[in-house]
Amino acid sequence: MCGIVGAIAQRNVIPILLQGLQRLEYRGYDSAGLVVIKNSTFERLRSTGRVTELTKKSAHSSGKIGIAHTRWATHGVPSERNAHPHISCDSVAVVHNGIIENYEELRAQLTARGYLFSSDTDSEVIAHLIHSYYLQNNDLLAATRAALVELIGAYAICVLAVNNPQHLVCARRGSPLLLGLGENENFVASDVSAVLAVTKNIVYLAEGDVAEINLHSYRIFDEGGKQVQRAMHVSELSNDSVELGEYSHYMQKEIFEQPQALADTLEAVCNSQALIPGLFGADAAVDFKNIGSILILACGTSHHAGMVARYWLEDIAGIPCTVEIASEYRYRKSVANDKTLVVTISQSGETADTIAALNHAMLLGHVYTLAICNVPESALVRLSRLRFLTRAGPEIGVASTKAFTTQLAALFLLTLVLTKQHQRLSAEEEREHLHQLRHLPSAVQLVLNMAPEIALLSEKFASKHHTLFLGRGLHYPIALEGALKLKEISYIHAEAYPAGELKHGPLALVDKYMPVIAVAPNDTLLEKLKSNLQEVRARGGELFVFADAGTRLQSSEGVTLIQMPEHAGYLSPILHTVALQLLAYYVALQKGTDVDKPRNLAKSVTVE
Ligand code: G6P
Repeated sequence: MCGIVGAIAQRNVIPILLQGLQRLEYRGYDSAGLVVIKNSTFERLRSTGRVTELTKKSAHSSGKIGIAHTRWATHGVPSERNAHPHISCDSVAVVHNGIIENYEELRAQLTARGYLFSSDTDSEVIAHLIHSYYLQNNDLLAATRAALVELIGAYAICVLAVNNPQHLVCARRGSPLLLGLGENENFVASDVSAVLAVTKNIVYLAEGDVAEINLHSYRIFDEGGKQVQRAMHVSELSNDSVELGEYSHYMQKEIFEQPQALADTLEAVCNSQALIPGLFGADAAVDFKNIGSILILACGTSHHAGMVARYWLEDIAGIPCTVEIASEYRYRKSVANDKTLVVTISQSGETADTIAALNHAMLLGHVYTLAICNVPESALVRLSRLRFLTRAGPEIGVASTKAFTTQLAALFLLTLVLTKQHQRLSAEEEREHLHQLRHLPSAVQLVLNMAPEIALLSEKFASKHHTLFLGRGLHYPIALEGALKLKEISYIHAEAYPAGELKHGPLALVDKYMPVIAVAPNDTLLEKLKSNLQEVRARGGELFVFADAGTRLQSSEGVTLIQMPEHAGYLSPILHTVALQLLAYYVALQKGTDVDKPRNLAKSVTVE
């Protein structure tokens, strides 16, 4: 996962920057870089190795202000030229986490104005854009703010100008960023662990904030440009723990990390030539040509990701797909098809049933195997011919959140790559899908902004003993996942049904004591779903409907409408999931359960 550290001090900041990067190493990265100002010029060091490589390179360097970054590219050889910081005209340097959605457009405009690009990243446009404004007034804060207006997407950035060594400017939208306050020295970081060795005084920037940091002071401006105060927290973390930062629980933190986790996972698609089989491993180009169907094997939340993928793979790529619970498949005498790609999905890569199912598939004669996994060196990854690593970073909460949404992002990429390879993707469709993917982190951020509304709603569930979740089509697995989250962490009995099945049984349970949660995206099944909701209302059931804009559903007696910010087409399941994660989290808070370690459950189920 990408990470940012910045520092301004009266001493050499290079050791502070390097130590910060080292603290971020656990999140994974494949290149690192830093820039300091020395003798009125930038001194930039970048490396595709470990941070220790950078440490060796910097042995004779020093500077009292600097910014640093770890980058995790998702395909191809991670190169020094793509590593951050990016520098414009030897004058402005930038490090960036996130995805700039309109970077191609900006790149074309900046190129036309004479800017030369030296990397393939979306991030480099930020450096040139800020530079173009900086030329006008020599004011780094004003230039950054002007540039941010033009950026569409998710970002945390830290900016440095060579002829202005008195301050750093930083900003966030959709990716976390914080200030660390020292004595006559100040810091910026994407993650509190990066500054714990130098200060425990932390100010978390809010969504849309821009800040200017000097040696002795700092100023924060909100998204409207008004100067604001943000509370300072004294961190109680030890230098060694995976930090909770401003959050109360890991699950909460992991829910809110999703824009960044998705941006990291989708980093490959910043580049328009990105939809290539190579994303899934060296042999993928050949293997994908040979396969005619897909079998997905997984457990728990990962199995729900597979269920969503089936809709995508059949609908978009036209490839037959079956999804099976790993613990069932491993003991079933199934018929192997040597043209089938066996896809295992797992956060940990160590789930015993999933590993056993993969071994069973290989014993049956399956040759083509792909693991979609969050842990690089895990058993599942090592066993599989192909692999795609999600970039969610460590997931500590037992109930899976960011691992699930990044699995979905990976599976959507798989769908697009297969569609393209089977020549079913027009250039226009490819552009549109890539646009949607780049927009995903920002779209998720908009759902996260609904947290206060969902927290209020959760009060209505605390006294309930049962709930029913309904969804249709692509969103039926999301109803299942919503119910799983709620039961796992709040211990409220929750069941999910495809809404059309209601009349075949579960309707018998519906009365005024049964809250029914409906996932209502603005898709082709909406009218059918509306009829199913009428069936619930007619039996006195209380409805809570998570509805997209344009569904023309309204709150009324017994119907509470929760308006989703936008409809994301095929990616809609990801947005609806985030809303249901928030619901489960806040209901669990109401009930006072152990959110991160629910009773009887384990994070990694390494036994049968
Ligand atoms: C456990 C966890 C779940 C997870 C499942 C599969 O039950 O509590 O959150 O979905 O295992 O784990 P995996 O690591 O294979 O995705």
